[in-house]
Amino acid sequence: MKRKTRLICIFALLICFIIGGCASQTDEEKKIIKVGTNAEFPPFEYINDEGEVDGFDMAIMRAIGEEMGYEIDIVNMEFKSLAASLKTGALDAVAAGMTVTEERKQTVDFSNSYYGAVQSIVFKKDRAVNSLAELNGKKIAVQEGTTGDILVTPAEDNEVITDSSTEVKRFKKGADAIVELKNGGVDAVVIDSSPAHSFVAANQEDLTYLDLSDTEEFYAIAVGKGNQELLDDINEGLERIQNNGVFDQIVDQYINGNTVNVRQTSNNPIMQIIYDCKYVFIDTNGYQLLLQGLGVTIGISFAAVCLGIILGFVIALMKLTETRKKRKTVLSVIANIYINILRGTPVMVQLLIMYMIVFRSNMAYLAAILTFGINSGAYVAENIRAGIMAVDNGQMEGGRSLGFTYAQTMRYIILPQAIKNAFPALGNEFITLLKETSIVGYVAIQDLTKAADFIISRTYEAFYPLIAIAIIYFILVWGLTQLLAVVERRMRQSDLR
Ligand code: ARG
Repeated sequence: MKRKTRLICIFALLICFIIGGCASQTDEEKKIIKVGTNAEFPPFEYINDEGEVDGFDMAIMRAIGEEMGYEIDIVNMEFKSLAASLKTGALDAVAAGMTVTEERKQTVDFSNSYYGAVQSIVFKKDRAVNSLAELNGKKIAVQEGTTGDILVTPAEDNEVITDSSTEVKRFKKGADAIVELKNGGVDAVVIDSSPAHSFVAANQEDLTYLDLSDTEEFYAIAVGKGNQELLDDINEGLERIQNNGVFDQIVDQYINGNTVNVRQTSNNPIMQIIYDCKYVFIDTNGYQLLLQGLGVTIGISFAAVCLGIILGFVIALMKLTETRKKRKTVLSVIANIYINILRGTPVMVQLLIMYMIVFRSNMAYLAAILTFGINSGAYVAENIRAGIMAVDNGQMEGGRSLGFTYAQTMRYIILPQAIKNAFPALGNEFITLLKETSIVGYVAIQDLTKAADFIISRTYEAFYPLIAIAIIYFILVWGLTQLLAVVERRMRQSDLR
């Protein structure tokens, strides 16, 4: 009975922890506004050398916040999810170089516009594109859901791109569209002029652009439909910074003063590789992003493994009450439900549920640690149970006949052997967990995989960053394997086999 109570206490504590985590977040929502963006749109929004979301729009929002007494909390997500997140209330505002369109006005409200732009065609230097109409029947890459996407997608009301054989490839990021162009997968990229100029500046050797002067559009900040109070404040803040010179300063800093790293080239292929690596990892600070990402990956994995072990033990013991009592018990039923649900659904789905529903898009790290820990717990539980079942029944009988209680026999005789039995399987589980954390980028965590992703966006090079993280993961797993081998050897020291 005492043991049961202890188990229940541990469980209750965990639940309190989760609920407490959620609740503490709601307390501090005083004047914080959540501003969504998609940091794939330089110079309006991008990831800076420190791995933070930065850019013209962010500077504008912070300046408005300063004027109007708001704290700005920036949330980086896919461009096409921004409007929907305003609707659900996950965001208060969107600052993402978002163009005012009649269609978008149906779902969101726009501030006064703060910037005018046109669309541009980006293409390879060795060919000439003189008008949008020339792209009829060609392959075009765009960022999904943007005005560029609308401009080139053949539709009834599209007067220029009328050829339905025109192939539009939609990417989540503008940079990926550029990589596709460089790889020869498309003939052109159609995107807003400022990012087009940034992309071309970073790829001067092989890309160029054409601005489409008759496609003028205006950027504005969006808020949820009917959120007049926030909209008025944003408009007022915008007006104030336009009058006091701060706005112009930000234009100078982010749009006029935008410097790019120049890339060295060489005819010698070995030298070219060295230059490329230097550019990707050093000049554009890729190594810093990788180091930060590595820390995050290790941190999340370590915390999740610890949680997984604790939960795994608890669940395994709960499930074993069934073996002991030779009938189903409340605890074993709970344990079975736990194991079945967590093993029966993809961890990616669990992560999204935890982050978006349980945590309402707050505290991504905690959400990730809990998801992976809870998920791993199910597997660890089965490994430990297998380890326990592999211990001969006679051991329990022996312990009991020596006068030990069930719990004592478990603790001093069965579990030490069980852990040894389960160890190889547990090692597998930890290795899997480490690699599985590579999906945390989906909930806005900058782990190792996400770091590679950022580097691709910044350098338009996919090869070096991806190979680099593959090697880093490999080294991590290799290190972990060595560590597990050492521990296993220690544990087996007393064995006769
Ligand atoms: N101005 C374009 C639009 O509203 C593209 C904006 C893309 N912005 C971004 N942060 N990715 O559709």
